Amino acid sequence: MSYGHFSEDGDEFIITTPETPRPWINYLSNGEYCGLVSNTGGGFSFYRDHRFHGVLRREFRQFSDDLPARLWYIQDERGEYWTANGLIDYDRYEARHGPGYTNIRVANNNISTRIEWFASPEIDGEFATFTIRNDSDKPQAFKVFSYLEFILGNFMQDAHERTFANLFLRAEPTTRGLALYNNRWSLDGAFAANDQWPLKAYVVSDTAPEGWTGNRDDFVGYKNSLLTPKLLKINGSLPPLEDTQTGIDPASIFQWNVTLEPGGEQSIALLCGVTGRDEAIPSITKQHVTEQRAACADYWSRLMDTVKVETPDRELNFMVNYWNKLQMMVNNWFGRGPSYYHKDQYPAMRDCCQDSYGVLPVIPEQTRAKLVRVFGFMFTDGRIGKGCNRVVYSEQPTDKADLALWMVLALKSYLVETGDETILDEVIPFLDGGESSLYDHLIRGLSRVADDTGPHGLPLIRNGDWNDALDMIGDKGVGESIWQAQFLCYCLREAETILARKNDAARIDAFNRIADQMERNLLDTQWDEKGGYFIRAFTDEGKRFGCSDNEEGYIYLNPQTWGVIAGVGTAEQQRKALEAVDRHLETDFGLMNLYPAYSRPDPGIGIISRFIPGHKENGAVFSHATAFHLIARAKLGDAEGLYRIYRKSLPCCRDQDVYKVEPYVHSQFAASPASPHQGEGAYHWLTGTAAWMFRAVVDFMLGVQPTEQGLQIKPCLPASFTAYTVTRTFRDTVYRIEARNPEGLATGTVQLVVDGEPIEGDTVPITSAARCHVAATLRPEEKVSG
Ligand code: GLC
Repeated sequence: MSYGHFSEDGDEFIITTPETPRPWINYLSNGEYCGLVSNTGGGFSFYRDHRFHGVLRREFRQFSDDLPARLWYIQDERGEYWTANGLIDYDRYEARHGPGYTNIRVANNNISTRIEWFASPEIDGEFATFTIRNDSDKPQAFKVFSYLEFILGNFMQDAHERTFANLFLRAEPTTRGLALYNNRWSLDGAFAANDQWPLKAYVVSDTAPEGWTGNRDDFVGYKNSLLTPKLLKINGSLPPLEDTQTGIDPASIFQWNVTLEPGGEQSIALLCGVTGRDEAIPSITKQHVTEQRAACADYWSRLMDTVKVETPDRELNFMVNYWNKLQMMVNNWFGRGPSYYHKDQYPAMRDCCQDSYGVLPVIPEQTRAKLVRVFGFMFTDGRIGKGCNRVVYSEQPTDKADLALWMVLALKSYLVETGDETILDEVIPFLDGGESSLYDHLIRGLSRVADDTGPHGLPLIRNGDWNDALDMIGDKGVGESIWQAQFLCYCLREAETILARKNDAARIDAFNRIADQMERNLLDTQWDEKGGYFIRAFTDEGKRFGCSDNEEGYIYLNPQTWGVIAGVGTAEQQRKALEAVDRHLETDFGLMNLYPAYSRPDPGIGIISRFIPGHKENGAVFSHATAFHLIARAKLGDAEGLYRIYRKSLPCCRDQDVYKVEPYVHSQFAASPASPHQGEGAYHWLTGTAAWMFRAVVDFMLGVQPTEQGLQIKPCLPASFTAYTVTRTFRDTVYRIEARNPEGLATGTVQLVVDGEPIEGDTVPITSAARCHVAATLRPEEKVSG
């Protein structure tokens, strides 16, 4: 069954029933305040940090019942009530998610309602606009109630000890609404916390309510639920709130009495926001709300316009043009924390750097501040902290081995994208005191990883590398990671672009020598002759791991991918590695990250073997690793393989009853055939997948890639891509690339005509013009050279 589809342009996802198999959500944010909003208004919100500045209440059961929600109730003169969310009762329902907004239209009992929530780029909060229309032929009177439920600070305190946490709260009436305060707040959940939550939450309306309260109990009551609130069951009303309320289970419930003639309509707007304790609560008017809605639309359309593609593949266009960008922005703003599934995902440096890489073409300027902030999560000895929090928090060094390497990817791509080398001299702190340049941080981090090697001269895996869950094969400090060795070679060589900006010739030389030695070590160790692919690691006991010696987990995806991307095997080995992926790891919906899944816990392997088979890192179809792999296909010119795997990985091309989670964003994984839940998506939204899918398509498949000299055009295309366009902003110039591939080639030589002039080579030079038109034609290799 289908529960929804893209709009004609692909910029909206239209959901046609509230009975989706899971909550299908959107993230509404300006980068500071963030609200997760499902297709029935469910979801929580927070300010900057989902753990310490919770605003709307988060509960882990939200994943299964999607409550509490931002509810709007309508009660008619007969006492009948329903919601404008599509819960309880409805005749017609439609919800739309778009960048920065979500709306729901419901018709019931000849009454039409529409709610739209949106995030303003300027105000830290979420607006809701509610419209009700009387479609019947007689005048009618209604009570309308809006409902929100709060946390007010540390989410874990609310989750662990709600009645105790509530002892510190109060709600105060304001001119047009309510302000909520918390007298107790701590960063670590300490019982004896002795601080005020430094913020206050508020809810204000453009239309004065008849009555309102800050206490859930006044509305829902004991042994009732949000779907059968006591006040509505007894057809009651709320009085105006005149005094401070204490002893509350924090909520905001507003009541308006509305009378409508036949065809009559009324709109009410609400702003739920958060602000510093001493700052004034804004008041809102209809005009103000209209302006903020326009600002939201403008903000997102400018972001979306930075890279636009028109190809023969409609779903690819929609994902690249809209949904990958939205997903990348959310990950880039808030990391892997604010999830329906989990509280936290460490370690953050790795994810932050990849998120920056993905989103760079979309927000190059904002990426600078992000890198300056997250590179400071390092200790003086080059070890990296566990998080990258925006709320100050004491950091511990991580036990994952790979983190600093990702700094190279983020920094190199930043330099190439923007040309701004001043970032290298930014002075930033260390977590254990002192400071140095950002460049020095990079060198310390990279050098520490390069020095941390084991018996085969390969990097120690310690308690995990990119694969967090492979946490025990190197616990004794002897086990080594083949994948990390490949990635290290890649990073040491890629770092040259950064080092050259500092004329650091000696270090370029040193890094190249380490990379060359590492490559030789790999050539001696990484190839599994019997399996015909790259092995994964060596254990603390010196045993080969993730290879044909093992009964389970005998092939891993990442070494096949990165062996090719880093170019550290023979040409034949690289080709065979990709064939092995086809043979062992490909499923109908993407690539498994290992095969076969571990069937029982093995303390020597770690948590990966404790996950149920076919889920998470234990052999799931892992979207993030699949996305890496597309780049390996492009490197070897395997366009059909690349495109086949890409299509299989598209969430919008899955059976929605099987996949269950949102079709418009990537989930972290889908259960593999080893699981009875085969094909079911999980850990939606918060994953590096969108970033890598986006760049794999734009940079490597459509082949528009920034370099220091300009935009290189080097596609790797499926035969059906005979013509396409890419419009991409690069260093303040908007390039419109009209590409033709008349012979349906996978790869070839590109002939370029730039603003009407044929040019040599495959790179469009950097220009100061505002716009640049490029005609690119793909020709067979030999015709041009001959
Ligand atoms: C999660 C983490 C990421 C990690 C991956 C594999 O996606 O966010 O950092 O690399 O899992 O373990």
